[in-house]
Amino acid sequence: MTDNSKVRPVVLCVVGARPNFMKIAPIMRALGGQGRVDARLVHTGQHYDYAMNEAFFRQLDIPAPDVSLEVGSGTHAQQTAQVMQRFEPVLDDGRADCVLVVGDVNSTIACALVAAKKGVRVVHVEAGLRSRDRTMPEEINRILTDQLSDRLYVTEREGVDNLLAEGIARDKVVFAGNVMIDTLQHNLGRAVPAVETITQACAATNRSAAAFLETPDGYAALTLHRPSNVDDPAVLADLLGTLGQLATRTPIVFPMHPRTEARIREAGLGDFLARGDVLPMPPLGYLEMLGLVREARLVLTDSGGLQEETTALGIPCLTLRDNTERPVTVSEGTNHVVGTDPGTIHEVFNLILSNGGKAGRRPELWDGHAAERIAADLAGWLEAR
Ligand code: UD1
Repeated sequence: MTDNSKVRPVVLCVVGARPNFMKIAPIMRALGGQGRVDARLVHTGQHYDYAMNEAFFRQLDIPAPDVSLEVGSGTHAQQTAQVMQRFEPVLDDGRADCVLVVGDVNSTIACALVAAKKGVRVVHVEAGLRSRDRTMPEEINRILTDQLSDRLYVTEREGVDNLLAEGIARDKVVFAGNVMIDTLQHNLGRAVPAVETITQACAATNRSAAAFLETPDGYAALTLHRPSNVDDPAVLADLLGTLGQLATRTPIVFPMHPRTEARIREAGLGDFLARGDVLPMPPLGYLEMLGLVREARLVLTDSGGLQEETTALGIPCLTLRDNTERPVTVSEGTNHVVGTDPGTIHEVFNLILSNGGKAGRRPELWDGHAAERIAADLAGWLEAR
């Protein structure tokens, strides 16, 4: 038997933080299934808690990483620098034909920068998204990663225009669709029913599950973690005040990112978590979150991925930010960018409860097959070199 791995191009796929895992799962599956490249996985360890990390590997059947860098948390500079220092020697054997990065987290830019300077080609999945808000660390990561990339896979058409406007050559850019939706579609049948997740969290916090499950308008699912919303105690207090008012109408189920829970407690805002109409819980696995969102009356969030998932599921979404890098979720999907102004949040919330909000439709190429298109294009591109 011949060993094909010696001749197949080597693709080093990088993951680091929670939103990367849903993106890499279908890519690893498609690259493996096609068999034209040798795909290897590097985990930077930016996220490390079981609930933020290992739970996703298990549920999404992501293969164990070939390389673990175990960088952990730190300031942006510390974390980015740690990833760079630890990733550089991984490329020293010269075997990698390209480094594939996904999304916009610190691990994405760190590995892209190391690869580009080592002369290894960079492939970016989820390229071209722009919020035009440079106070967001992710926006900086997006712009720089795209500038360093040799092949750029885009999730929505506007992303192509954004890249061209920044001087990126058209022949590097491929509109491939959205790998997040591949994962959603692949796992919808395995989603954990919301009743199980809610009942368990109520038991853990001595609350009545009926208060969340037997209500006229169902429940709202909430996630919050953007520094702009949670790091400033005054901003956080105002936002939780508004959300508390909404909860009196529709109870809120709240899986909490660890930084968010820490910020709420540091700011002395723990009362929000003690309310009978708010159900706090630790971060959920992918299948639990999918079930919770699918059955929610609406979603309140500052996450990027949830804006896409709610659009794909047809669930109304209120994005608690002043902008979005995913405009197709507003123009075609169910997303409303409401910022943090209480008046706007109340207005859109009431509208959705009264008439269900806009219907929305699935954007072009959000069809569950984006990773297969990426795998086919990537193999052809590498073989041609
Ligand atoms: C990162 C990404 C963000 C993404 C988010 C999803 C960047 C710049 N940001 O933000 O785009 O939406 O992940 O979760 O990369 N922590 C834990 N356990 C963990 C990981 C983090 O407790 O497993 C806590 C630590 O206190 C840490 C803090 O969360 O300092 C922030 O983690 P970090 O990786 O710096 O950024 P995120 O806020 O998670």
